[in-house]
Amino acid sequence: MCGIVGYIGKREAQNILIAGIRRLEYRGYDSAGIALVDNGVNVIKSQGKVAKLEEKLVQNGNLTGFLGIAHTRWATHGAPNDINAHPQTSQNGKITVVHNGIIENYLTLKNSLHGYQCQSDTDTEIVANLLEHNYKDNMLTAIAETCKTLKGSYALGILCSDTPDILYAAKKESPLLVAVGEGENFIASDMAAVLEHTNSYYLLDESEIAILTKDSVKFYDFEQNELQKNLLYADWDIAAAEKGGYPHFMLKEIMEQPKAIKETMNPRIINNDINLDGIEIQADKIHIVACGSAAYAGLIGKAVIEKLARIPVEVHLASEFRYNDPILSPNNLCIAISQSGETADTLAALRYAKKCGIKTLAIVNVIGSAIARESDNVLPIWAGPEIAVATTKAYSAQIITMYLLALKLAKTTLPTEKFQSLLGEMQTIPEKVQSVLDQQDIIQKYAKEYAKRTSIFLIGRGVDFAAVTEGSLKLKEISYIHSEAYAAGELKHGTISLVEDGTLVIAAATTPHILEKTLSNLQEVLARGANSLIITTEALSNEVKFSANIIKIPNIHYLFTASLTTVVMQLFAYYVAFELNCEIDMPRNLAKSVTVE
Ligand code: G6P
Repeated sequence: MCGIVGYIGKREAQNILIAGIRRLEYRGYDSAGIALVDNGVNVIKSQGKVAKLEEKLVQNGNLTGFLGIAHTRWATHGAPNDINAHPQTSQNGKITVVHNGIIENYLTLKNSLHGYQCQSDTDTEIVANLLEHNYKDNMLTAIAETCKTLKGSYALGILCSDTPDILYAAKKESPLLVAVGEGENFIASDMAAVLEHTNSYYLLDESEIAILTKDSVKFYDFEQNELQKNLLYADWDIAAAEKGGYPHFMLKEIMEQPKAIKETMNPRIINNDINLDGIEIQADKIHIVACGSAAYAGLIGKAVIEKLARIPVEVHLASEFRYNDPILSPNNLCIAISQSGETADTLAALRYAKKCGIKTLAIVNVIGSAIARESDNVLPIWAGPEIAVATTKAYSAQIITMYLLALKLAKTTLPTEKFQSLLGEMQTIPEKVQSVLDQQDIIQKYAKEYAKRTSIFLIGRGVDFAAVTEGSLKLKEISYIHSEAYAAGELKHGTISLVEDGTLVIAAATTPHILEKTLSNLQEVLARGANSLIITTEALSNEVKFSANIIKIPNIHYLFTASLTTVVMQLFAYYVAFELNCEIDMPRNLAKSVTVE
């Protein structure tokens, strides 16, 4: 979603800030803007992409100055236009603000601010006006007083025209960090924005204010007490956040999956046993809360944990969880799965579970994220930075974590031999994912053939059904083709009425004991004019006795096939979108990290 970058230092700030918000483009946004301090605060903003903002800067003779803030906005309050874009400036021009998050009480605040007229529809402009209203001669006091009246979530970058050599920041619930360089300092909503300049940073915690000059950073709480914070080090290098020769981040991240999977799995397999970072997990029932792909990873988790450990698992869409009055008991465990660790719905579900008194475990990629910080225990997936909006390697690492969890929970009940054989098979996944990646030409050929279809169904049973839910989402997200995932046996109970000549039905059929059934369901649609593409294992492909297009994955225990079928479906969706000239890394209307409910 929205992105913030701020700079104060000895270099001209414009290009540093523009490069910074470019690195945040992947989060999804619909307008951008920049403000620089040089004889007052000068603001340029534009609807659309950063490239459009850059054109506007050139038309205006560019901005100069050594202090500035920049922003990419994903519209919540008010349309994505030039006026609503950030930075927002206060009525008398004293304060300029960029903001991520939502001010929930902005209307009440607006009505209480007498004498102020708003130009935009944003909640952010109210913050700028409030700051100006509260400012006498001390910005720290003005920020602290203002923040105490704000309800909701915010990360704020703030300039004051009276202090042309100070950058201010404040945060509650939306991520913000302060990065430290030599004779220069930064604020950013995401380390990717400033990694090319420094790896050292402080994470702003809840209800904290930062005051930056080019040579110093100081932190305060909302009572204006100075705080001592620990300097952190980000070991993600810049190459990890760049495309590395691939045309899209998504393809790069698909290709990185063998490595990402190894990094999730290998450190947790010690002496033929599973060690989940020392965390002992006990539960008589598991509730998984997550959104989008993470929820689909949860479905794989449900299938595998229930099968191996015989512990009931319920997967809740996080946005529904707390409104559905879920039945929770003290010995239940709530697992929040989230790549970003900042998804507002998932965070709210996690907080609800905590409030109900049950233990929580976070499975996240971004380590210092809110979901990680608020959970009782955290299992990082260590997939590395994921830039493309549509998740690939983080999803793969999430399902590996589900396998690890299932095996760990099943250890005491499974016969030792069975446990060891599954553990061994699981460790073959990285090399088998690589051999699926090596088939990208065949998958691309099918993608080309089917790219013009207007409707694509994906079917499967059991684990295969869980896997096609994610496959279908990938297609929808990046190629904009209408697609549905269906339990193979359910198609005939209604949805088959939509099948007509040329409808494409992709079947994941990798589970030996139900292969026949899935193939029968496929026959039903073929009889109605559909075309089919079957994803199955080398061994099971011999069982397909009718003529069909088949993509073969290596043989592996059926509980782990999702790790391989997923990669086929990711590549298929990628190449379909490529064929259709879609904006693959930043699909329309989507954001990488959705920090509003
Ligand atoms: C957004 C993204 C999805 C993602 C979901 C959950 O909707 O567009 O791709 O699966 O959020 O994100 P999380 O960071 O919580 O895994």
